[in-house]
Amino acid sequence: MKIILATIALHFFIFSTNSCLSWAAGAADQPVLDTDGDKVLANVQYYILSAIRGAGGGGLDLGSPEDKLCPKFVVQDPFENGTPVLFHPVNTSDPVVHEFTDVNIEFAPGLDAYCRSSTVWKLDDYDSSSGKWWITTDGDKGNPGPQTLTNWFKIRKSGGFGYTLGFCPTVCESCVTLCNYINKFPDGKNTRLALNKKPEGSPWVFVKASEKHSK
Ligand SMILES: *[C@@H]1O[C@H](CO)[C@@H](O)[C@H](O)[C@H]1NC(C)=O
Repeated sequence: MKIILATIALHFFIFSTNSCLSWAAGAADQPVLDTDGDKVLANVQYYILSAIRGAGGGGLDLGSPEDKLCPKFVVQDPFENGTPVLFHPVNTSDPVVHEFTDVNIEFAPGLDAYCRSSTVWKLDDYDSSSGKWWITTDGDKGNPGPQTLTNWFKIRKSGGFGYTLGFCPTVCESCVTLCNYINKFPDGKNTRLALNKKPEGSPWVFVKASEKHSK
């Protein structure tokens, strides 16, 4: 694990000095807002939808290619809202999700019965065939520290409309980690989330799942 993380850090340090600073600094812990202008709350279900409507729209979902069914990874469903997520802030007594703050993100099923895996987001190991660090599931929730580094994500306002996601965990003071924006990339028939070498990420909005159902 230590070796893997060291490799991650070395590989990305070259590209990501700027994006790292922008994720780590600031510490402006503004609450993240949903599409109604309400604070995004811990343990409440939200769809993560593209801030771009029409082509390129759609929500985040669990997906898999034909040749590697488990664990499922994070895809964008181009036509539907996808699967709602729950946010779990690193500070478990904080009911509100804040910008620049570590959160676990979990697809609401909680457990993928077919794969027998968790639906908590996780940064996968480096995929040398695609040159990507994909976001997958079967992560661990809570227990901030070196052993859970790959399970923490951050949210910040995008340059335009909506929010972008990033990976820049600060759950371990002595750990060297990478910091990168998360963007969507094509992978076969899927559109998947992965770290971006460039300091830019796809813009998303958060829509209360209960409202969406009742509309
Ligand atoms: C955690 O959240 C609670 C509630 O917002 C707050 O009072 C407390 O100061 C936070 N703890 C830390 C370590 O930030």
